Amino acid sequence: MWKGRFAQDTSSLVEQFGESISYDWRLFPHDVAGSIAHARAQLNAGLLTEEEFSSIEEGLRGIETDIREGRFEFRTSLEDIHMNIEAELTKRIGAAGGKLHTARSRNDQVATDTRLYCRTQIDGLLTAITGLEKVLLDQASRYAATVMPGYTHLQRGQPVTAGHHLLAYVEMLERDKGRLADCRKRLNISPLGSGALAGSTINLDRNAIAKELGFDGITHNSMDAIADRDYIAELLFTISMCGVHLSRLSEDLILWCSSEFGFLNLSDAHTTGSSLMPQKKNPDVCEITRGKTGRLVGNLMNLLVAMKGLPITYNRDLQEDKPPLFDSVDTLLLVLAVNTEMIAAMEMREEKCLAAASDPMLLATDLADALVKSGVPFRSAHELVGKAVAESVKSGVPLDQLDLKEIDDAYTDEMKSVFSLEVALAARTNVGAPSVENVKREVERWQACL
Ligand code: ARG
Repeated sequence: MWKGRFAQDTSSLVEQFGESISYDWRLFPHDVAGSIAHARAQLNAGLLTEEEFSSIEEGLRGIETDIREGRFEFRTSLEDIHMNIEAELTKRIGAAGGKLHTARSRNDQVATDTRLYCRTQIDGLLTAITGLEKVLLDQASRYAATVMPGYTHLQRGQPVTAGHHLLAYVEMLERDKGRLADCRKRLNISPLGSGALAGSTINLDRNAIAKELGFDGITHNSMDAIADRDYIAELLFTISMCGVHLSRLSEDLILWCSSEFGFLNLSDAHTTGSSLMPQKKNPDVCEITRGKTGRLVGNLMNLLVAMKGLPITYNRDLQEDKPPLFDSVDTLLLVLAVNTEMIAAMEMREEKCLAAASDPMLLATDLADALVKSGVPFRSAHELVGKAVAESVKSGVPLDQLDLKEIDDAYTDEMKSVFSLEVALAARTNVGAPSVENVKREVERWQACL
């Protein structure tokens, strides 16, 4: 493509080292769409005849079909998807193919293609996340009234319901979707026409190109447009964040599956056995989800580090943007699919959840609240209940069976009524709190908006 200036062939080692076709071939539908829009602008500017435009369009569509059907032979010597397609086009249609690259550079091609790729993948991710939210919602509805302990520091804290716990993840996933939608908005701007870095002396209608490709506008600085990869970094962050949410969910599920907790039964189809220990049933999907999240975070770091020292505008380092991008998108889509299937099939062991929540210690805070309602300042109430807890620990008498009045006369007999999980949950009616009514209402709210 640049043979005019060079007297020697490229070393085959350099060819191997510098190629990106082994991975950027995936950009082909976007490269074809970008080229057709660019050619149409050339036609409208009088740079191509109708026949030339038609043969370019037809040639490109034929190449797209051949790639899709596995009939296209990619050549490493042609480095990347942009040059593979252009060279093949010229081979197929002759001289008109050589006109296509007028007023554009691979720099704006790669910026265009990756934006279109990100946009398409974001749409797929949004659908996949909604699918996972829906199964979480089904389970939250099923277990809206299943009382279980809520934990801080992985120590039992206060009673919640399994439904409330699962809905927490729906909240997180919905924010991930918001971030994806936001990222999509920012990246859906056309860089085409930025040239190598300084536009072109041949002015094509950039707005028409953008419109044809479904972009919402055009970039306003040619140097920024081809140097920028922040839209990829933003997507990789959003994917990492979603991965981190799913990793935390995995961790919860792993704990719940252990004999120590015993709250959850994952289906046989979504667990694995041991080659040695016949009794084992392992939550591998959760563990692999947790493990793959490391890769997602690593991919984000990979790109940020690659970018940080680069002078604007384009530097070849930027070619390294695509492996982490493709890997993160593929990985998260797979993680979402398998988790959706697994969560749809899982079953909570309600009696175990209830038994773990039945420790009266979980209602120590409610006892302090009861003292507050009788006029005791919260700090003093906290201390009084702390004394009762210490007595219970020392004597082995459960908190709800202690003679509280012996500890302090601020206690009254009625205060013992706090030691009921039903009462405790029913009292938690404020927005965001886990009363069964609230959880059911939240399920309905989500059902209406997902
Ligand atoms: N394969 C290159 C990439 O992915 C395309 C752009 C090449 N541009 C250049 N001036 N060498 O970044």
